[in-house]
Amino acid sequence: MSAFDLIVKGGTLPDGTRADIGISGDRIAAVEILPEGMEAREIIDATGDLVSPPFVDPHFHMDATLSYGLPRINASGTLLEGIALWGELKQIVTVDEMVARGLAYCDWAASMGLLAIRSHVDTCDDRLLGVQAMLELRDRVGGYIDLQLVAFPQDGLYRDPTARANTIRALDMGVDVVGGIPHFERTMQDGADSLADLCRIAADRGLMVDIHCDETDDPLSRHIETLAYEAQRFGLQGRVAGSHLTSMHSMDNYYVSKLLPLIAEAGVSAIPNPLINIMLQGRHDSFPKRRGLTRVREMQAHGIRVGWGQDCVLDPWYSLGTGDMLDVAFMGLHVAQMSSPAEMARCFEMVTATNAAIMGLDDLGIAVGRRASLVVLDAGSAIEALRLRPARLAVISKGKVIARSPRGDATLNLPGRPDQFRRRAPKA
Ligand code: FE2
Repeated sequence: MSAFDLIVKGGTLPDGTRADIGISGDRIAAVEILPEGMEAREIIDATGDLVSPPFVDPHFHMDATLSYGLPRINASGTLLEGIALWGELKQIVTVDEMVARGLAYCDWAASMGLLAIRSHVDTCDDRLLGVQAMLELRDRVGGYIDLQLVAFPQDGLYRDPTARANTIRALDMGVDVVGGIPHFERTMQDGADSLADLCRIAADRGLMVDIHCDETDDPLSRHIETLAYEAQRFGLQGRVAGSHLTSMHSMDNYYVSKLLPLIAEAGVSAIPNPLINIMLQGRHDSFPKRRGLTRVREMQAHGIRVGWGQDCVLDPWYSLGTGDMLDVAFMGLHVAQMSSPAEMARCFEMVTATNAAIMGLDDLGIAVGRRASLVVLDAGSAIEALRLRPARLAVISKGKVIARSPRGDATLNLPGRPDQFRRRAPKA
């Protein structure tokens, strides 16, 4: 009889240690060097390869994904034209189309080892078609991807006349997390009031909160201060995230020196989205042009949990994207200048363990008893994975191998050079 259903043998974990991973059913049953000859129904030889917990995306818009060009392209490239364009699209899109596009995207995600996604879903639609579609999608992919939904009043909780009622309806229908967009309300005061309202709703229902917060270049957009205050007032420490926080890039340094300890004290996490932030922000600048990313290293130095989110793939706001969280971390690493070995390793951790913690997914991770969801990558280390963004040789979800990809080896036809090579760095 086999000791395990599946063994992933000889891989290197993100912390650099080597271990075999024994899997029984949907659980990790061993993380150690197993005796030679240990049997299993299936053995994956991961010798020399990186074995990682699954990738996790804590900020996405699944209801809009893969809709690029419908009904037209975002000509200015700004956040505001993207919102207007999405407003046009949602008048004509159907539930079936949103489900089909979401399923297609989840195929991409599964192939990349992206096995947990927090998606905002627009609640500014009296028919709540997006909510219906995303609830159906959550059921359809639930066997292999954790899809966590955020009730997101895209056009403003108060600015849109029925948004608040529709957001409550969406939560009643089973949407998981409370969302908001204070910088899009009519006034700073309305934005602040919306945060108090949303945090109260979350506290009453025992839910998490994830706010599109200060996604602007305006140094005076300071809703993150209010979010931290309300999180603390309603006892939501550890359950609230501020997404984007791009205004923090432009804030006065003295003010930030007071703000960061307040965010840390309130246990509010931060989710910058580097691909989108670098693309959308700074559009009103001439030169020098701001980077459009929040203060990542500075928040981490204050003990604030910071993950990297993807936000968009082929939609009204972003014309590219692959579903690969390594692309996201790669961009974040560059824009935030996180170039030391420790910081690069942290960037990898941000798109795996840290993002899982932000989403409250404490069953993920490589440890005995945890869910058997793993990714085998064609790289020798976490940092090399960031450099190469390599093939996912095997993706395992809940003990089942759900995707495989061939190695990225190249063949050469050059005199005196090897026929085949791998883009791995020489061992130091
Ligand atoms: Fe977003």
